[in-house]
Amino acid sequence: MMLDIDIGEGRWVTFGTPLIARQFDAVELNAALHRILLRREAKHPEMRTGQLNRSNVGGWRSEPDILDWPEPEWATLRRMIEECALQMMKLAGGDRPIDVRKDCNLVAWANINRRGNYNVSHSHPGSHWSGVYYVNIGQPDPDRPLNGIIEFQDPRPAAAALPIPGFDFGYKQTFVPAAGMMLLFPAWHLHMVHPFFGEAERISIAFNLRLRKGEPAQ
Ligand SMILES: [Fe+2]
Repeated sequence: MMLDIDIGEGRWVTFGTPLIARQFDAVELNAALHRILLRREAKHPEMRTGQLNRSNVGGWRSEPDILDWPEPEWATLRRMIEECALQMMKLAGGDRPIDVRKDCNLVAWANINRRGNYNVSHSHPGSHWSGVYYVNIGQPDPDRPLNGIIEFQDPRPAAAALPIPGFDFGYKQTFVPAAGMMLLFPAWHLHMVHPFFGEAERISIAFNLRLRKGEPAQ
């Protein structure tokens, strides 16, 4: 699919970047995942990082194998991710979308961020789609406007060189996390997470998805 939009009178908006932001009603699931992950963190305190660990600065990060953990909640989360990925792939396949359930490698890991933890700007090379799901957002201090917010950078590297009034070149797109919210975006889309300041913990699940064949389902 070409993500160019004809807005009439010979004008086009070109090079659109698809992104899904979807809110799931998952209070019980989130409570269970929260319990499971705090237990796991207590068992494996060595996974807390005081410094840069991949994109994480501070916080606790699991191994990228959580979808293989035994609790049934992980299968539920897998289905939710697949649902979003399928929704995305419908953009490419029209009425013959790629069946992501049969045709993808999906890996996911958990992040537990506390006061001062954040993620530097990064992308996810080697994957097709990436995403994040918020289990819990903690209790953010209200006096910090970018507190724990995820930010996507304009993927057109030169776009911010000289802003043109009224256009959003160089725009930084932000999403305020909410428990139950899932974002899905191209793995090459640069993003970062601003430092979290608040009580309790902010728990997110990050995931990468790679299509094996990349052909429309029959
Ligand atoms: Fe990421």
